[in-house]
Amino acid sequence: MKIRESLLQMFKQAEGDFLSGEEISRRLGVSRTAIWKHIEELREEGYVFDAVRRSGYRLVSTPDIMLAEEIKAGLMTRRLGHYVHYYATIDSTQNKCQELAKAGAPEGTLVVTDEQIGGKGRLGRVWHSPPGAGISMSLLLRPTLELQKCPQLTLLTAVAIVETFREFCGIDAQIKWPNDILIDRKKVCGILTELNAESDRIHFLIIGMGLNVNTLPEQFPDEVRDVATSLRIAKGEALRRVPIIQQILFRLEELYELYLAQGFAPVKERWERCAITIGKKVTIRTLQGSLSGYAEGIDDAGVLLVRQEDGAVTKVYSADVEI
Ligand code: BTN
Repeated sequence: MKIRESLLQMFKQAEGDFLSGEEISRRLGVSRTAIWKHIEELREEGYVFDAVRRSGYRLVSTPDIMLAEEIKAGLMTRRLGHYVHYYATIDSTQNKCQELAKAGAPEGTLVVTDEQIGGKGRLGRVWHSPPGAGISMSLLLRPTLELQKCPQLTLLTAVAIVETFREFCGIDAQIKWPNDILIDRKKVCGILTELNAESDRIHFLIIGMGLNVNTLPEQFPDEVRDVATSLRIAKGEALRRVPIIQQILFRLEELYELYLAQGFAPVKERWERCAITIGKKVTIRTLQGSLSGYAEGIDDAGVLLVRQEDGAVTKVYSADVEI
């Protein structure tokens, strides 16, 4: 572990108590001057330390930056998020994660950024991620899975995010099939799953998650302002992003392990508890055209089943859904 990382870990374990320069120096095996330099560097990044003669230093507050060491410091997972690549600005975390995956990065590698300048949405759309406001992250998974089952992982991710919003943030949210998360019918999060595979074998898949956390209405581009929202707008106060990332990873790992061990059925049950689409009249838009009907549910593969007026049930594999 790097000195800076160990230093932060020590301060976090001290839970606001003072640590003397001498003790830190002894435990980390570096000089007191080196420690002072690290502390100054951290202060410049927004960490607040008290320094008191004879008592030493104590960590008063940490900035809301999604630095690798911040994410890793409170991780509750076994394998997701143990390799974190943080960028203040990047074109797209999907592209970076692809690059790392091709170079052999392990499952669970996470790429996270504060600002995306080439964020990708579904169906070739643009995803806006203004600086400091949201979470834009991509997670690398390497499951041994049949190709057609991959969409199930998008559904599984949506469950992890909605359960985080409901149980950790105290905000009600719902999934709009397949990959939108809504609060009060407005979009708060989108998921983009990209696949690298041969005809019968997955090499890896990358799950991209874009969350509007502290975005203010005026930060949304005109074209989405009426249909987008953020956790901050819903809650009426700003939220810290790092604990949200840690919670999502924790829940995602639990669901992923359940899925690998028992298949989609237990995940489907939880998905149904989070979904807004089911039991509603919907309009489906695909590249081939549109159709209206009643959303009956999803099948065991995660495909949406829409009953039309004539009673025929259409299987929808990919579409934009209006409710
Ligand atoms: C959608 O709703 O269309 C999906 C949006 C997905 C956006 C995320 S942000 C992190 C990751 N990097 C990207 O370029 N896109 C995804």
